[in-house]
Amino acid sequence: MCGIVAYVGKQEALPVIIKGLKRLEYRGYDSAGVALLNDAGLNVYKKKGKVSELENFIESNPNLHSHIGIGHTRWATHGEPNDANAHPHYSASENFAMIHNGIIENYEVLKTDLINKGYTFHSDTDSEVFINFIEDIYQNNNCSLEEAVRLALHKIVGAYAIVLMNKEEPDTLIAARKGSPLVIGVGEDEFFLASDATPIVEYTNQVVYLDDYEIAVIRDAKLQIKTIENVETHPYINKLDMELEAIEKGGYEHFMLKEINEQPRSIADCMRGRLDSRAGRLILGGLRDYMNKFQNADRIIITACGTSWHAGLVAEYLFEEFARVPVEVEYASEFRYRNPVINSRDFVIAISQSGETADTLAAIELAKQKGATIFGVCNVVGSSIARATHAGSYTHAGPEIGVASTKAFTAQISVLSMMALMLGYQRGTLPESKYMELLSELEAIPAKVEKALKLNEQIERIAAQYKDARNFLYLGRGYNFPVALEGALKLKEISYIHAEGYPAAEMKHGPIALIDEEMPVVFIATQDSSYEKVVSNIQEVKARKGKIIAVVTEGDQTVRKMADHVIEIPRAHEAFVPLISVLPLQQLSYHIAVMRGCNVDQPRNLAKSVTVE
Ligand code: F6R
Repeated sequence: MCGIVAYVGKQEALPVIIKGLKRLEYRGYDSAGVALLNDAGLNVYKKKGKVSELENFIESNPNLHSHIGIGHTRWATHGEPNDANAHPHYSASENFAMIHNGIIENYEVLKTDLINKGYTFHSDTDSEVFINFIEDIYQNNNCSLEEAVRLALHKIVGAYAIVLMNKEEPDTLIAARKGSPLVIGVGEDEFFLASDATPIVEYTNQVVYLDDYEIAVIRDAKLQIKTIENVETHPYINKLDMELEAIEKGGYEHFMLKEINEQPRSIADCMRGRLDSRAGRLILGGLRDYMNKFQNADRIIITACGTSWHAGLVAEYLFEEFARVPVEVEYASEFRYRNPVINSRDFVIAISQSGETADTLAAIELAKQKGATIFGVCNVVGSSIARATHAGSYTHAGPEIGVASTKAFTAQISVLSMMALMLGYQRGTLPESKYMELLSELEAIPAKVEKALKLNEQIERIAAQYKDARNFLYLGRGYNFPVALEGALKLKEISYIHAEGYPAAEMKHGPIALIDEEMPVVFIATQDSSYEKVVSNIQEVKARKGKIIAVVTEGDQTVRKMADHVIEIPRAHEAFVPLISVLPLQQLSYHIAVMRGCNVDQPRNLAKSVTVE
């Protein structure tokens, strides 16, 4: 939520910042802005809408040459999306400009104090209060800006990643973080700051991840980091493991389509070096030091949000079936507020693509306080969740830029499948022969995913028939129930069609009332242990003239006779079917959204990285 970029060095700052903002647009696209410092002074340019609108707005401005600047792309929290609420924000004197990602919880109190002191505000944002609070301290204490920031941060409640510029210091950027991410790219006599590494990878692969309560000062091409207690720390330089191609569309019309099609590779990447069925080997490095706790856990608690929560539901079936351990799957946003019973023998798994989701982070902190072991399943390397957990396994899906999660979901399920198999084997609930068979089954998945993706054209034709539907129902059972939820989420978030996912058998307890000849019902009816029951549910919908789109196992003849459309996917062990059955649902939602003229990669009101509660 909100993307920030800053640059200081020998290059022209504006092109670096604009390109960086475009890479971060997935984090918010309500407005965009930049601040540049040159002979014309410290100037802020900002505009409602996307970065391209900002570009048009400043196109003919002659004062854009600068070697230092900050930029922001916004996902609105305080105040509607308009020019005034766009960042950067000036301080009252216009000597300072600041970009901010996060939420300041005590901004109203601070604002009232500042108003009483005579400050006026030009926006409805908490961020403008933040920069004026800093300026007020600066003026009252007669101190440096860096010191004013440090003193201000002691009083600020909430989450922030900020970067400030000072009119009087044309070679200085000051940055700080708590709760919102900030990465510093270290080039040769130049520095890049951003919410994630995607704006940086093109220029350098040396990065420093700023920690909570740290302040970075870049002055005269040198980086210094101190805590807010004023203690200097030694920045650890990480090597970025990211290719530029991974964050470009590579010939696809949309990132989402690219990411859907990347799944054979992303699932294989996730298993590479970890799973070798012939050698009977399954290794997850992150579990090595925690295997004992994992194996002896009384209970597994999985916490996540959105699509990651759906992956957690699939994992519930996997862990219970293979390892016979009780599992609870919790929305992080509910878990953190309901005083849950957690103890030191619980093993908590936090799942997150971005590794920045505020609710999931808060749930982790809560579980940590209660003494549980926390294991992260994250995609973004070096992210806050990856660093807040005791241990973890990365999903290695590569950058996911389309706001609707696709390849991250299947990569999460791949990691969780490996964890469940390991646990079952170690606990003795999975006999060796079964374990070996399941390893081979899992290893065979990427090839089956590749085959399933070839159904794209058939799905596009189905999409054309239903693109104007007002509602959709998605039904599945067992392992395919979370897939039904995920299919419905994908459709609603990118096409704005109302969709509900349900366990197929629950339909008769209410949703069946919705069914008429207008209602498309997507069944995931693969040949598994609940197949016969799902077939009965299909009959019930058919009897009420609903339109049936069924995802079935290849060769299925029974459902073919009842359904309006059948999508045949390769046969797989039922535990791993979600890795395949979700694909046509991703494609269906993608095509429907494109046909409805929706912005597939940046759906309205959404942002990829939900760093607010
Ligand atoms: C849906 C989607 C969201 C995220 C959710 C959690 O397509 O992307 O529902 O899954 O916001 O995000 P992460 O996984 O980054 O914690």
